[in-house]
Amino acid sequence: MNLQIHPLSKARNSHHDHFRREVLEGLKSTPKRLSSKYFYDKTGDRLFQEIMAMPEYYLTRCELDIFKNKTGELADLVIPENEPFDLIELGAGDAMKSTFLLRHLVEKGARFTYMPIDISGNILSILNEKLSSQFPALEINCLEGDYFEMLQKAASLSDRRKVVLFLGSNIGNMTVEEAESFCLHLNRNLSSGDRVLIGFDLKKNPHVILNAYNDKKGITASFNLNLLSRINRELKGNFDPEQFQHYQTYDPVSGACKSFLISLKKQQVMIGNDPVAFEENELIDMEISQKFSEEQIRALGEKSGFTMAGEIRDSKNWFVDTIWQVK
Ligand code: AVJ
Repeated sequence: MNLQIHPLSKARNSHHDHFRREVLEGLKSTPKRLSSKYFYDKTGDRLFQEIMAMPEYYLTRCELDIFKNKTGELADLVIPENEPFDLIELGAGDAMKSTFLLRHLVEKGARFTYMPIDISGNILSILNEKLSSQFPALEINCLEGDYFEMLQKAASLSDRRKVVLFLGSNIGNMTVEEAESFCLHLNRNLSSGDRVLIGFDLKKNPHVILNAYNDKKGITASFNLNLLSRINRELKGNFDPEQFQHYQTYDPVSGACKSFLISLKKQQVMIGNDPVAFEENELIDMEISQKFSEEQIRALGEKSGFTMAGEIRDSKNWFVDTIWQVK
């Protein structure tokens, strides 16, 4: 038998296998868990856009304040010398905030290639179209996939200085230990003098934080439950999302803001041919959105081999974009 597999469908298959393996492994663990990186299918992308527009979800507006009102300062911190560079954005999404920086750099005549990396090919193609029409002269190279695979690919494409953007408190989706190994890995994939700009959500009044993830309209709940529907569709699952309930917590001591789904009854769910048993009130650990103190951020940078280059905060002092340089 000679099965010809198109490279694209081959990539899709391995994507799909990975998704299935991770879901099954997570649902066989105690406590059960699913990875929030899978929230972003087409519906998930749309729900996240709705979250960003919610009055309770301050994060995007805070970081937008920085990118809109402190653009020059930001540009000077990311590229102190006027040399050609690659501007790599991890989890670019719709690049709403970085577009302000892109415009500033284009207008200044900076020589650079913008390389957005995202796990959602859907959002990347929308972004590519938008940026090409907005900045016809901008060199864009979209990379769909895993952060580090794509970062390595980006590194192999040129030996220019790299500036890596990791905005929106996406780093918050890692536990403190995961963030440490992520930053260490990031450091090792870059060269001396390269810079990273990371957006951290700061610890603040716990009510403000909890409200941002526990909205009254239930958009965040739908965002979590949508992963069950995605599993149904893509992995032949039979979750009944109505039989699960969203539960949000925030621990102001550790800074961990976490979301769970609660099984409302004893039930069995099939993922393809694999059965998964739930007790009544059993939890699925869905997402962490870690909040940081200044001290935690400093320690993170030092442990992972960076030196501090600067930081910019929003006017409320709720959010910080930190710039580190590879030693
Ligand atoms: C996209 C990871 C920054 O954790 O604040 C928003 C995702 N989850 N509401 C966050 C999210 C629930 C968001 N990040």
